[in-house]
Amino acid sequence: MVQIAGTLLHPRFSSRALRMALHDVVLVPGDGIGPEVARAVQRILGAAGAPLRWHEHPAGLAALEQGLEVLPASTVEAIRETGVALKGPCTTPVGEGFGSVNVRLRKTLDLYAALRPVRNLAGVRSRYADIDLVVVRENTEGLYSGVENEITPGVVTSLKVATERACERIARFALHYARSRGRHRVTIFHKANIMKLTDGLFLRIARRVHDAEFPEIELDALIIDAGCMKLVQEPSRFDVLLMENLYGDVVSDLCAGLVGGLGVVPGANLGEGCAVFEAVHGSAPDLAGQDRANPLALLMSAVMLLNHLAEVRADPRCHAIAATIRGAYDRALACGETTADIGGRLGTQAFAEAVVARLG
Ligand code: NAI
Repeated sequence: MVQIAGTLLHPRFSSRALRMALHDVVLVPGDGIGPEVARAVQRILGAAGAPLRWHEHPAGLAALEQGLEVLPASTVEAIRETGVALKGPCTTPVGEGFGSVNVRLRKTLDLYAALRPVRNLAGVRSRYADIDLVVVRENTEGLYSGVENEITPGVVTSLKVATERACERIARFALHYARSRGRHRVTIFHKANIMKLTDGLFLRIARRVHDAEFPEIELDALIIDAGCMKLVQEPSRFDVLLMENLYGDVVSDLCAGLVGGLGVVPGANLGEGCAVFEAVHGSAPDLAGQDRANPLALLMSAVMLLNHLAEVRADPRCHAIAATIRGAYDRALACGETTADIGGRLGTQAFAEAVVARLG
């Protein structure tokens, strides 16, 4: 083992090899505001000296425009090979057209856990001062199974799927996350009073995994409608939130609204072999191409990516650079150097430069 900055490194890295090594990361710029926020984030990561080698691959409308499939096999394969991607948002047509690229990518790569940390940021206005919670969303089934049928004209159905395997691994993920990050409570949001089989299974299995493996973590459960009311009344009482796919999608945006909006909430989609980091927000067609989008949520996702690399590749440089970037954007926010969505006057690329100026 080699020791650098107090961290034991995997034997396959000599300290010299580690100093030189670049991590291969796939970049999917995505649609709408995706390419502009991705460019801003690449600028900051480059200036901070992040040891990354980018491999750009299209998905979504951007792929269609290049005459490719909406989710090209080459994009999926590249993420499988590198194991890590930073992804911009991909547009999904409403009520018609192709299915969600995002949902398909998560299912194809079995990225079963979505992790979305939500916290107050100094300098970003919010009705609350002490929010620090994490939404853990099951990412592969529920109503997003995509199984919809027209039984007969005028009658359509949508299938909600829950399997023991998926319920068990997401419960274990959330409880393990709580334990490893020194968090104390996991709260399940559910609707098992109405969906007794599907949400009932989700709830029952989470309780079983908790009792058998994580008894020191406090586990509670709220029916989701009452849970949402409590979230907006007293968000600081929540620590880790665990829920199925659709609820997690909706509650993530609700939580973003508690801390300043979609411009400030990052995310990770995690599986056994791959990790795809992306902001909670979508492609924001109303802002696309105008240099008005906030790149912070994708930047925070990139900081999560660096911390992930620090862990799985045992590379302490990534951890240090993540901390430097975090300090730089915290200082920019504290000075009011932000984009318009959170009260500032900067454009997307000018915000990136404000962060770069504070990296030193
Ligand atoms: P959206 O998140 O794109 O936008 C909602 C609102 O938030 C808009 O007013 C937008 O201007 C604002 N907003 C979002 N991100 C922002 C940012 N970085 N800076 C400043 N303001 C920001 O949600 P919407 O409009 O429901 O969806 C648009 C498209 O994005 C749809 O096609 C949807 O399917 C897709 N989408 C993709 C996601 C992904 O790729 N992971 C996630 C959510 C939606």
